[in-house]
Amino acid sequence: MTRRRRIYEGKAKVLFEGPEPGTLVQYFKDDATAFNNQKRGTITGKGVLNNRISEYLMTRLGEIGVPTHFVRRLNMREQLVREVEIIPIELVVRNVAAGSLTKRFGIPEGTPLPRSIVEYYYKSDELGDPMVSEEHITAFGWASPQDLDDMMALSLRINDYLTGLFLGIGLRLVDFKLEFGRLWENEEMRIVLADEISPDNCRLWDIKTNEKLDKDRFRQDLGQVEEAYQEVARRLGILPEGGPGDLKGPKVMQ
Ligand code: TMP
Repeated sequence: MTRRRRIYEGKAKVLFEGPEPGTLVQYFKDDATAFNNQKRGTITGKGVLNNRISEYLMTRLGEIGVPTHFVRRLNMREQLVREVEIIPIELVVRNVAAGSLTKRFGIPEGTPLPRSIVEYYYKSDELGDPMVSEEHITAFGWASPQDLDDMMALSLRINDYLTGLFLGIGLRLVDFKLEFGRLWENEEMRIVLADEISPDNCRLWDIKTNEKLDKDRFRQDLGQVEEAYQEVARRLGILPEGGPGDLKGPKVMQ
């Protein structure tokens, strides 16, 4: 394999220079972190599953007209994406109380929220991703009011669509985190969905049993972490060919 230039390394992914200008290769690692890097571990096969799950969800979202950075999957652990300027804001959409919301407001986990709630966090590992308001975002110039309107509208559409998609396979979409980027085409700028959508950044509970099938199994030491990610892929109908035994190491598929 030819050496590629590494553009950026995050906690769960690496971005390499893509084969043509304006593209990047997004490589999915098995590394897992929680609580802003305080807890670290490996979830065997996670990178392969998240690559596949994110491909599937971004493709479905593209079909309903949500612009995304996703171009195509390249192999077991890599996908080709458009190079975008990442907006340093994480949008969290919540439908059911869980995680930091339960701690902040003392609401029991599992309480349905009166309506979907969108929160903003400033993307900064050093600061531990602090929660911020629209005022902070626009005053500090992280995003314009128009960018925020676009991100909010897209997030609510994504929530509606994914809630239905997961309900169809017996999963409750409790909450999830999205990242967006700016994509320039000629003189025009568009806000597009970036990063990934996977059990790393969604909470997914079985509708009947409330069993957690997401990264909370790792965060809370619940065990059966690999199996939970596999179960999500299985229900989506996209468990990699050959089943779990096929989950290690990169393999060229096309
Ligand atoms: P929280 O309840 O810990 O604030 O998390 C809300 C959702 O956002 C949950 O689905 C996990 C996801 N998330 C990330 O993807 N990255 C993060 O850094 C954090 C804190 C949460």
